[in-house]
Amino acid sequence: MNETMTAAFLPGDSTVELRTVPVPTPGHAEVLLRVKVSTICGSDIRCIYHEHLGKGPEGYQGVIAGHEPCGQIVAAGEGCRRFKTGDRVIVYHISGCGVCNDCRRGYMISCTSEKYRRAYGWQRDGGMAEYMIAEEKDLIALPDQLSFADGAQVACGFGTVYEGLEKIGIDGNHAVLITGLGPVGLATGALCRKLGANKIIGIDVVPERMKIALDLGLCDVVLASGPDNVAEVKALTGGFGVERAVDCSAHHAARATAIRATRRWGRIVFIGEGGTVEINPSPDMIHDQKTLYGSWVTSTWLMEELVERLVRWNLHPADIITHRFPLERAGEAYALMASGKCGKVAVCADEELM
Ligand SMILES: NC(=O)c1ccc[n+]([C@@H]2O[C@H](COP(=O)([O-])OP(=O)(O)OC[C@H]3O[C@@H](n4cnc5c(N)ncnc54)[C@H](O)[C@@H]3O)[C@@H](O)[C@H]2O)c1
Ligand SMILES: [Zn+2]
Ligand SMILES: [Zn+2]
Repeated sequence: MNETMTAAFLPGDSTVELRTVPVPTPGHAEVLLRVKVSTICGSDIRCIYHEHLGKGPEGYQGVIAGHEPCGQIVAAGEGCRRFKTGDRVIVYHISGCGVCNDCRRGYMISCTSEKYRRAYGWQRDGGMAEYMIAEEKDLIALPDQLSFADGAQVACGFGTVYEGLEKIGIDGNHAVLITGLGPVGLATGALCRKLGANKIIGIDVVPERMKIALDLGLCDVVLASGPDNVAEVKALTGGFGVERAVDCSAHHAARATAIRATRRWGRIVFIGEGGTVEINPSPDMIHDQKTLYGSWVTSTWLMEELVERLVRWNLHPADIITHRFPLERAGEAYALMASGKCGKVAVCADEELM
């Protein structure tokens, strides 16, 4: 194996810097992965790429970028108990302390240890490199039926969405509104279909994204964002509104639409991060008996169950990837994702470029 590798860093001025760095050696209970596919998330653009705006868990500490990695183990350190060289794995993208209450629930995302909680691509080296170190406890086995590109989507996007949908419960009784049709919104459409939702309505502002949602069959109807959205959604649902709504935009107007276009007794989940929302609690929520959830990533155990279900449903998250780039062209990959004129954007090892 080479002693050095190429890795991508985000200086925070809408560029990507490629550097040559040493290939790391796995320590106790760690593995070295050959990264096969590493996808870009809206959070990378929002908090790191344009400017280092993130704070706390979203603070970028100048490490190798990329929090959606999937690859193959090429070396396992001493003390690994389950995974070994050759295994195909997804990296759950936050490494927690392992012993706080949240970690013990499998939610390392909300680990309460300031010292030990470190997210890949934020506070510890991530997947935008030829190789990366991951802790064994953060790994999810990738089933043979799923590709590395499928797995990378589970690391953040599909895992996050599945958690949010489990909170609000989705089934064949439900019409669902998705505000924001970026990769997270597209993943919501794909999972809602498999969970049985029978009318999926999407809203976005970018025509390319609206078209992708329709072309891939992830939404039945797509609306351009605007002041009439609540009335439009009600007109599509017998005048009542949807039973379930998922905000994947983080936009204040879209969040208010998600709440107001939900019918009595309905449930809403906020996944899009940052920004604000203004509502009138009595008419918008209380008198209509609505429930609003917030949802942050997922747990390692639910991620494991999700990959099993993806196989059962024959659902391939990679279908929402519209563009693949080699690591040397990571700069173009981030710029495209920042433009919004795409589905999911992936940075891939040569053999995964298609
Ligand atoms: N809660 C979590 O754990 C979690 C995990 C991953 C990502 N996220 C967040 O989810 C959001 C979506 O992620 P993504 O990768 O799809 O990002 P993205 O930025 O590509 O997607 C956001 C979409 O919302 C659309 N939008 C903007 N204003 C709108 C409006 N007024 N009405 C309707 N749509 C509008 C944009 O055009 C875009 O397509 C981001 O805020 C990201 O940070 C949250
Ligand atoms: Zn993410
Ligand atoms: Zn912890």
